[in-house]
Amino acid sequence: MVEHRTAAPHISESHISESHVSEPLDAVIAFAPSNIALIKYWGKSDPDQNWPANDSLSMTLNRAATRTIARINRAANDSADHQLGFGETFTNNLRVRDMTKPKKFLEQLRVELKPWLRHDGALEIVTTNSFPSACGIASSASGYAALTVAAAGAWTGQTSIEGLAGIGISKDKLANWARQGSGSACRSMHGGFVRWVRGETAGQQVCEQIFDEHHWPLADLIVVLDSKQKQVSSTEGHSRAFSSPLMNIRLAGLEERLKCASAAIRNKDLEQLGQIIEAEALEMHAVMMTANPPTQYFSQGTVRFIAWLRQARATGSIAAWFTLDAGPNPHLICRPEDSLQIAEKIRGAFPDARIIMDSTGSGVSMPRWTGEDRGGVAHGH
Ligand code: PMV
Repeated sequence: MVEHRTAAPHISESHISESHVSEPLDAVIAFAPSNIALIKYWGKSDPDQNWPANDSLSMTLNRAATRTIARINRAANDSADHQLGFGETFTNNLRVRDMTKPKKFLEQLRVELKPWLRHDGALEIVTTNSFPSACGIASSASGYAALTVAAAGAWTGQTSIEGLAGIGISKDKLANWARQGSGSACRSMHGGFVRWVRGETAGQQVCEQIFDEHHWPLADLIVVLDSKQKQVSSTEGHSRAFSSPLMNIRLAGLEERLKCASAAIRNKDLEQLGQIIEAEALEMHAVMMTANPPTQYFSQGTVRFIAWLRQARATGSIAAWFTLDAGPNPHLICRPEDSLQIAEKIRGAFPDARIIMDSTGSGVSMPRWTGEDRGGVAHGH
């Protein structure tokens, strides 16, 4: 089944109540896409700061995204009163996750935003994903990017990315803050192909677009073979990476690999890029499998899928290459004009898989407030 839905937000009554709803003009909306890493961020040199052990390179997505609505609750001045509602729209089931981490993140963000605060007070947040969590799409990347932009907008009274930039809150700043929630979130600020450079210290963060979304639009077919929650979180995975004897070998070769991947993107050479991203994904997984304790994100389905894809490629029937994040579900990168036909072939071979059709996208934005949004926030569904 090929699907994509954008549904109205689902809100837990216990998190946002009617009495908290103020005028719609107070609210801001942030839309942040997820991103798929072509060269992975795996291992942190500073876990508190989410400071990466290596440079990474990603493609920003278009449809797999988080939409966050934020507004100030003027009646509550204590940041402990943030009202956070997390909806899961894809499956139509409400999921309320543990709010401890996002609440702590917002408290720190409010401190960072002190020089720009126009409205103070607790935030009301409603956030929805267009895709299921823990399925091989980095929901933390889009989630923290959207949360950062929405909260910054609401607290400073800015309703656009340009407005934020105008008061001195650049995308670089937003990326730097979002990174503290989830490392990969910083890359979702920009569209197209994005490089996150480790630098010497967390303060020297560079997260930059190397090619925009028009340079080389690609398709990303996310093949959901298994939608179970992963057993080992990526936070835990990052910390285990250093116990693998392969980690130092990996780190030594990454600079060269990133250069080759950037060149393949510059030259729009899909076969070259494809070979690099497959080697890269398998290397990251090899590090995990040889870590202590050993960690396996692969499933039997993943192995079968890779074998099938390689066979199909060898016979010339598919021009697509896979990458895998910390989960069992492959992302297939291919030319947009081939994507429907490739999805059809996958469906034939893996009838139970769900395929999310995505493509190169343009990074965070702040859409205008509409009545539909107000309905979602005020009343839920
Ligand atoms: O941002 P985190 O802590 O969820 O880590 C992301 C790790 C990978 O998705 C596996 C790789 C990456 O660069 O996105």
